[in-house]
Amino acid sequence: MGFSTDAIHVGQEPDALTGSIVAPIYQTSTYVIEEMGKSKGYDYARTNHPNRKALERTIAKLEGGHAAYVFTSGMAAIDAVFRLLRPGDHTILSQSVYGGVFRITTQLLVQFGLEFSYVDTSNLEKVRQAIKPNTKMIYVETPTNPTMIVTDLAAVAKLGHGRNLTVVVDNTFLSPYLQQPLALGADIVVHSMTKFLNGHSDCTGGAVIVSTPEQAQKIYFVQRSAGAGLAPMDCFLVSRGVKTLAVRMDRHNSNGMAVANYLAVHPKVKHVIFPGLASHPQHEIAKKQQRGFGAMISFDLGPLESAKKFLNHVRLCSLAESLGGVETLISLPALMTHASIPPEIQMQIGITQGLVRLSVGIEDIEDIIADLDQALAQI
Ligand SMILES: Cc1ncc(COP(=O)(O)O)c(C=O)c1O
Repeated sequence: MGFSTDAIHVGQEPDALTGSIVAPIYQTSTYVIEEMGKSKGYDYARTNHPNRKALERTIAKLEGGHAAYVFTSGMAAIDAVFRLLRPGDHTILSQSVYGGVFRITTQLLVQFGLEFSYVDTSNLEKVRQAIKPNTKMIYVETPTNPTMIVTDLAAVAKLGHGRNLTVVVDNTFLSPYLQQPLALGADIVVHSMTKFLNGHSDCTGGAVIVSTPEQAQKIYFVQRSAGAGLAPMDCFLVSRGVKTLAVRMDRHNSNGMAVANYLAVHPKVKHVIFPGLASHPQHEIAKKQQRGFGAMISFDLGPLESAKKFLNHVRLCSLAESLGGVETLISLPALMTHASIPPEIQMQIGITQGLVRLSVGIEDIEDIIADLDQALAQI
């Protein structure tokens, strides 16, 4: 079946008891066991529940994985993946990862004896040089948040596999509709489902998609032991959102391209970073491994004061932390999403004070551009 058919039907069979076309929300913590050793497949909602099982089947299918596990947030999902490591293990990460990943690795996981290096993963030679005898994992975000650096996934996967490393990819910015890292050779995919997968900005969620039964067993062990599995209502919301992923992403794609082209020639904009523009350093790689360029755009307005003025004047676009919703969201990474990264490192990795991140929504394109236009005129 095609992607949209799978998104609508896999894991979403009509309810066996009533015929309800939408799965009921199993809002219960516990399941009655018929007799010792005989249950209907569920016992306690931390361990599993029907709404989680349904969503996990859909997500595994869309990413082409062996299995998927869904968590209370993207960070909970990412944390579960790092729990595959042991004290003394070393991981290479893309240098401009989402601020929360920088925070959990530099401030929390290091306390448990894990080691991390932050490398420009778009440069294969730098990744090769960063591999040490204790390296176990390469963790790639592509495109990176918010610097939009694209990593050649097939090349990194080949390098990693030659050294027996687990290659993990954060596919949040593109969703499985636009990029399928497992098909390109990655071992594990993670998502903040809070973003495009759900798409409606009404709950947080995360996913880990694995490619082998051994990884599945380990991630499921973390999920049921640590208890950060996604709750029934939130699974229901993401399952609802995922059904329209393909049509939303098509619209995000066309709106994203139109906004990037508009900003690229605007005199007040110093620089636009969008993999869909021919000027982007990894445009050709993005074209090769992505089905579209998505809706995440970063652009530089120079001094902090200019960026603040612009952000204070948008009306349709919402000044907000998140991304991937149907509504256009706009933020200032240096002071918002990436504030946990020290200013000197922000500068090194290209998060300048005037860098604005835009998550282009699926509103009418004329309205989005008109709003950006009037706000840019205020600078
Ligand atoms: C690329 C990326 N990965 C992971 C996360 C973390 O997801 P969550 O906020 O759902 O914990 C985010 C959040 O913005 C993100 O942008």
